[in-house]
Amino acid sequence: MKKKIKVGIIGGGTIGSALAQAVVTTLKADAQLRFLCEKHKEKAAALQKKYRVHARLVSLIELVRRSDLIIEAASPKVAAQVIKLACKWNKKVLIMSVGGLLQPQVTELFKKNRVRIFCPSGAITGVDGVLAAANGRIRKVRLITRKPPEALMGAAYFLKKKFPALKKFSEERRIFCGTAAEAIENFPQNINVAAVLSLAGIGPERTRVEIWTSLAYKGNRHEILVEGDFGTFTTVTQNRPAPGNPKTSYLAILSAIATLKKAFASVRVGT
Ligand SMILES: NC(=O)c1ccc[n+]([C@@H]2O[C@H](COP(=O)([O-])OP(=O)(O)OC[C@H]3O[C@@H](n4cnc5c(N)ncnc54)[C@H](O)[C@@H]3O)[C@@H](O)[C@H]2O)c1
Repeated sequence: MKKKIKVGIIGGGTIGSALAQAVVTTLKADAQLRFLCEKHKEKAAALQKKYRVHARLVSLIELVRRSDLIIEAASPKVAAQVIKLACKWNKKVLIMSVGGLLQPQVTELFKKNRVRIFCPSGAITGVDGVLAAANGRIRKVRLITRKPPEALMGAAYFLKKKFPALKKFSEERRIFCGTAAEAIENFPQNINVAAVLSLAGIGPERTRVEIWTSLAYKGNRHEILVEGDFGTFTTVTQNRPAPGNPKTSYLAILSAIATLKKAFASVRVGT
């Protein structure tokens, strides 16, 4: 009988729960959900009950040490911690809080080790094109993100800057323009797509990001414009939010499931 991969999930929120369900259903022939790490015990218990998951609730260190494949769906800070531990034990890791990978010490560490890190495209389309284009010369990558106020609430940016209440923006307004590195520093939980795009293409210092908001926006919209030796392309993704979480697009969950399936597939389509 084929040996099943032992999976551990960190974070049992919107994405973590959906991926737990995918592991125990879609991936059950290849994988077994063995460990969970969740800050709120009651959330972990609810997840175990809802999906009839028989995974043990353990500490982050124990989860990384004992799992073959670790799924991080908690925060950029947790992602950085997970990478440090995964490097120690050469693990496979799927990271959702991709911004956590761009901290200089973390980047240095994973480049030197045999750890395998999967970063789903998330809520954007066109990552396949950027990956291909990066094998030639890319001149420009621009991300223009439009999010309703409730998807931006709580970002570090608004603590640093004096800003009118987000809820008053009935007309479209650009609230940020800068590099992807600056966007990730200021909106660590809200702009993971900028980190994904940077890693796929020309890095966080050369990737340009704009963030717009308006009360009229419904769901998160991402526009990507790329110019290079290959020519140009533009993608526009109008996302619907995941049920019960305006910050997370449903496509981000579907993309993570696709990445997990690809990790086990014999035919792997797409760049
Ligand atoms: N890559 C992408 O496209 C993309 C898209 C959406 C969200 N995200 C990121 O994925 C992560 C998860 O998103 P979500 O929508 O599931 O968020 P969520 O808030 O619904 O769930 C996060 C869960 O992690 C738990 N958690 C936080 N810190 C923890 C810790 N130290 N140890 C254990 N558990 C901890 C929380 O209690 C919560 O249950 C976030 O960092 C988010 O920014 C990435």
